[in-house]
Amino acid sequence: MTPSEQPPKQHTIGILLSGRGSNMAALANAMRDGRIDEARIAVVISDQPDAPGLARAAEAGLTTQIVAKQGRQRAEHDRAIIDALRAHAVGWVCLAGYMRLLSPVFIAAYRGRILNIHPSLLPAFPGLHAPRQALEYGVKFSGCTVHFVDEGLDSGPVIAQRVVPVQDDDTEHTLAERILEQEHELYADALKLVLSGRYMLTGRRFRPLPNDDR
Ligand code: GRF
Repeated sequence: MTPSEQPPKQHTIGILLSGRGSNMAALANAMRDGRIDEARIAVVISDQPDAPGLARAAEAGLTTQIVAKQGRQRAEHDRAIIDALRAHAVGWVCLAGYMRLLSPVFIAAYRGRILNIHPSLLPAFPGLHAPRQALEYGVKFSGCTVHFVDEGLDSGPVIAQRVVPVQDDDTEHTLAERILEQEHELYADALKLVLSGRYMLTGRRFRPLPNDDR
């Protein structure tokens, strides 16, 4: 085997979720159908024992684990999650509808290797109910953002965004659904790009590097 014939490095991904899990499924599909062929999902972890996303992951043949908070402090809970991720040799963490803010201990353990998807064009409308916030504010365009996770709320450097026009008759539900469709594509594209390592991060500014394929 010549060096150029070496199989691509397999990155191990851990997914954290608290709910439905459609973004988890979108990433799993992208890995299964070869759009992301340099990574595999090592474990899907939920803090919510009854999260529908857990059943969805198990049906897709993925390893699942519940790490419930159980009255622990945030940092202690996060340490239990870090232990679970390390037990599965996870190198990269994707938040997919994970409803807790990560503590500094978690960020330090995986700094620069934690991604999140958010249903607005950040920095507009961080936090809960972003499509509702967009409608209440009256913006004409919203969208979704994939970003690195830092200690703040939806505040890490932006990796990629997609714009979704707001329609006059949109409800929170219809807008959220149209944004979600874009989220599923954007998350897979952004993860693939970041795993390729072909980007520069200067301060907050993320820039993809040109493809060096000859
Ligand atoms: C998505 O809208 C995502 O942007 C946000 O939470 C929602 C999770 O949906 N962070 P799902 O669980 O991936 O279906």
